[in-house]
Amino acid sequence: MPESKLFHDVVRNRHSVRNFLPAPAPDAVIRAVLEDAQLAPSNCNTQPWQIHIVSGAKRDELSKAILAADDAGRITPDFSFDLRDFHGVYSQRAKDQGAAYYQAIGVAREATEDRRTAARLNLDFFGAPHVALLFMPAFGDNVRAAGDMGMYGQTFLLSLTAHGLGGIPQTMLGFYAETIREVLGIDPSMKMLFGISFGYPDTASAANAYRIEKAPVEESVIFHR
Ligand SMILES: Cc1cc2nc3c(=O)[nH]c(=O)nc-3n(C[C@H](O)[C@H](O)[C@H](O)COP(=O)(O)O)c2cc1C
Repeated sequence: MPESKLFHDVVRNRHSVRNFLPAPAPDAVIRAVLEDAQLAPSNCNTQPWQIHIVSGAKRDELSKAILAADDAGRITPDFSFDLRDFHGVYSQRAKDQGAAYYQAIGVAREATEDRRTAARLNLDFFGAPHVALLFMPAFGDNVRAAGDMGMYGQTFLLSLTAHGLGGIPQTMLGFYAETIREVLGIDPSMKMLFGISFGYPDTASAANAYRIEKAPVEESVIFHR
């Protein structure tokens, strides 16, 4: 298969996976994904990413601690996130995404408690056997390093797909940055941007059956000649 066709397929097969089989990925496959992600570009080649891969008993311990923090209302994000900051078309897309997901998993708009239960699946890594937690040092207003982290994250996600795995990037895990640092013994100077739960997708799950629409190129690109 020509390389461009392979790339075409990998990019289109990647999607957010929100239900996983319990079987762990072999260490060699995780290593191969990490080798790929390490090649991501970054400002001045600073490579600001520090990645914590959590599996097995530690994964269960971490999920328990995050759920307990959530129960206690202990929300400690390193970076702000507020859905109300989105406006116009961006706000609409966020709403459409939420509606499509909840419809796919059969949770009604007005079922507040069911929505909370569904949202808390984030905190058990959607059942994934592994989670990658993406930390970075603080530089200036952090925007440049955060961009680099996005480069790393997408390379990681595409490599997961190319290896038959799936993943879900999760800003929501960053709401428990302090708890995560405590459980994993991470230095407070390292700031958490987002996590990526990953493993083998449960292809029979309704959560993985839906695909969110993307805007056409014309909505995002302006050509100048
Ligand atoms: C940085 C980042 C953070 C995200 N955080 C969450 C999250 O906390 N929980 C969640 O369910 N989805 C999260 N998502 C997934 C998005 O909802 C998803 O990427 C978007 O709807 C597009 O769908 P797709 O990934 O299937 O193309 C996040 C995506 C990105 C890129």
